[in-house]
Amino acid sequence: MPKAVLFDAYGTLFDVHSVIQAAESLFPNQGQALSLLWRDKQIEYTRLVTMSRKPGQADDALYQPFWNLTRAGLRFAAARLGLALTDAAEQRLMDQYLQLSPYPENRAVLQALRDRGVPTGILSNGDPTMLNAVVQHAGFDKLLNHTLSIHSVRRFKTDPAAYALGPQALGLPAQDILFVSSNAWDALAATWYGYTTLWVNRAGAPPEQLEPAPSHIGSSLRDVLGLFRSP
Ligand code: LAC
Repeated sequence: MPKAVLFDAYGTLFDVHSVIQAAESLFPNQGQALSLLWRDKQIEYTRLVTMSRKPGQADDALYQPFWNLTRAGLRFAAARLGLALTDAAEQRLMDQYLQLSPYPENRAVLQALRDRGVPTGILSNGDPTMLNAVVQHAGFDKLLNHTLSIHSVRRFKTDPAAYALGPQALGLPAQDILFVSSNAWDALAATWYGYTTLWVNRAGAPPEQLEPAPSHIGSSLRDVLGLFRSP
């Protein structure tokens, strides 16, 4: 049985596509397309800045906080769809990121883990300011023991330095920590790192076609509880 749980933030605890409503009101019939492109580009930029550098430059020379890359991803997505993104529209959509909706079952799952005495935390690409805002907005600050941001190592997932934050903060080997993500690539890379993993496949997406499979696959955050004994 795992001894602690770490959750991915965006897409796992918080629904990144809860921006669609605001996007739809700004750009009718384009909200969903904007949201999907925005998310893809945001993640692509995290990989670009972590993988790239000029010879002789420091590993983190291209690092920018997730907030900046999220804004850049939004600007790209709007341009790709030919949408006129005014400063006010950009600000409104960026502000949504500070108040993303948690998935409906999440509060009860975090509360149940707390009742069972299981240490919990977030391990996310988000920078501390944006993570703290979204966690507080959801009222999860009292339900989580740790909020770990890759900002302290300036390496985005799936760099091992990002995943190393979990064992360091919890004082446990990775295999004793259940790492929970709805992002299949994140669950795969955490499995490679050595975590016990749960991929929460809410959308019924196909599994990644690289080995190995995550340790566990579920369809909602409630599946975390099945991996812990009742009190
Ligand atoms: C995170 C992104 C990957 O929260 O969703 O780390």
